[in-house]
Amino acid sequence: MLRITVCVSGGGTNLQAIIDRIQDGTLRDVEIAEVISNNRGVRALDRAAAASVPGVCVSPSDYPDREAFNDALLAELQRSGCDLVVLAGFLVAIPPQVVRAFPGRIINIHPALIPSFCGKGYYGLKVHERALERGVKITGATVHFVDEDLDSGPILLQKAVAIRDDDTPEILQRRVMEEAEWELLPAAIGLIAQGRVRIEGRRTRILPA
Ligand code: GAR
Repeated sequence: MLRITVCVSGGGTNLQAIIDRIQDGTLRDVEIAEVISNNRGVRALDRAAAASVPGVCVSPSDYPDREAFNDALLAELQRSGCDLVVLAGFLVAIPPQVVRAFPGRIINIHPALIPSFCGKGYYGLKVHERALERGVKITGATVHFVDEDLDSGPILLQKAVAIRDDDTPEILQRRVMEEAEWELLPAAIGLIAQGRVRIEGRRTRILPA
């Protein structure tokens, strides 16, 4: 059984996709230990409660400085006893001490085809605004392992999504979620649960079933 702790900041639709795939039996041998949100009162925490998954808030506003928040986040992740940390729309830079405590054991979903539209300032709707401004014809989503830099760790899964002429950032965000994110994130967790992922430098290898 792979125990995962899912970190969220807002709507939690990616969290919901994981919950749904566990409940319908597609995602086997996976248990959500806990959901951690950096924001209070978000929909993601309601989704956790509805699925009887423990949810906690670790908010920067409850700590005197960033270092104290970082330490609290690490302590909560360790307390949850998880094997894998899943960043599912967690809009917080992961501090180095967390990366070092969970080497090769943190994955993130990003709403673009890395290395496009990623790094500092590229999160949530902004990613889709920039993709439309730049006029790319294809975007998508990426699941990658987290290292000490932003959106730079080994890529595990990617899926492309076509951009349409009449897309708005909101319409595109929704389609990237529906066509890519909600499929990729549970699939990535499933591959890790089955022991089928090897990290080789900056690359990953997916082993046959
Ligand atoms: C998702 O689109 C996710 O890819 C993105 O935030 C959204 C969260 O939605 N994450 C990032 O931009 C990380 N850089 P959700 O709360 O409904 O899952």
